[in-house]
Amino acid sequence: MKGILICGGTGSRLRPLTEITNKSLLPVYDRPLILYPLDVLHSGGIQDIIVISGPEHMDQMAAFLGSGERFGCRMSYCVQEKPGGIAQALGLAESFADNEDVCAILGDNVFFDDLGETIKTFKGGAHLFLKEVSDPERFGVATMDGSTIVEIEEKPTKPKSNLAVTGCYLYDHRCFDVIRNMKPSRRGELEITDVSRWYVQEQQAQATMLQHDWVDAGTFESLYRASSLVREKRKA
Ligand code: G1P
Repeated sequence: MKGILICGGTGSRLRPLTEITNKSLLPVYDRPLILYPLDVLHSGGIQDIIVISGPEHMDQMAAFLGSGERFGCRMSYCVQEKPGGIAQALGLAESFADNEDVCAILGDNVFFDDLGETIKTFKGGAHLFLKEVSDPERFGVATMDGSTIVEIEEKPTKPKSNLAVTGCYLYDHRCFDVIRNMKPSRRGELEITDVSRWYVQEQQAQATMLQHDWVDAGTFESLYRASSLVREKRKA
């Protein structure tokens, strides 16, 4: 399985912190944010990782992550010319993935569950990680039947459940065929939720419910919360 670390986007909700710096290099307590999703890939035994980011940030991403040797992995890099969505970013990794399964993870997501076993035992189709939240309209939202996802919507105004789709996606190589045939959404992006929806329609989308905290650190409040949760965990 190959790892895809998606660090695109402008980080507009975190300005001026993101005026120069990529969101995923901002501090979460004692480490840059990106090391938390990188830990997830590591826990899944993934060694080949590609970082996808905008042209304005590529130099700082490569300066920090380097060859990956320091982190026990092999790091490759790919530029996403314009912020065209998470699915577009993933599509850029097609030749890197080389027909293997992928674990795509967002550079601003901090997980406090251990996803390693699920990643290691992935057997094709799609596997997502869901978290009960009080504000599901901010996220992709899934409706479940047992451990199978039966419906998935991106930021619905009237969510049918409180289960947010978190930013770690296990897909088999067919995700790249889906992305090649996708059309941009109303906000002009290729949506990762549309990739997952393809697997939902094929009845091949499974999910795990997260038991611990999860933070999408894209706002001042959530970035602060991520720091304070990591701090608590370090002290425990
Ligand atoms: C993206 C996805 C959304 C997902 C979220 C998780 O949203 O589009 O489905 O729930 O990441 O962090 P964004 O944070 O880009 O608005």
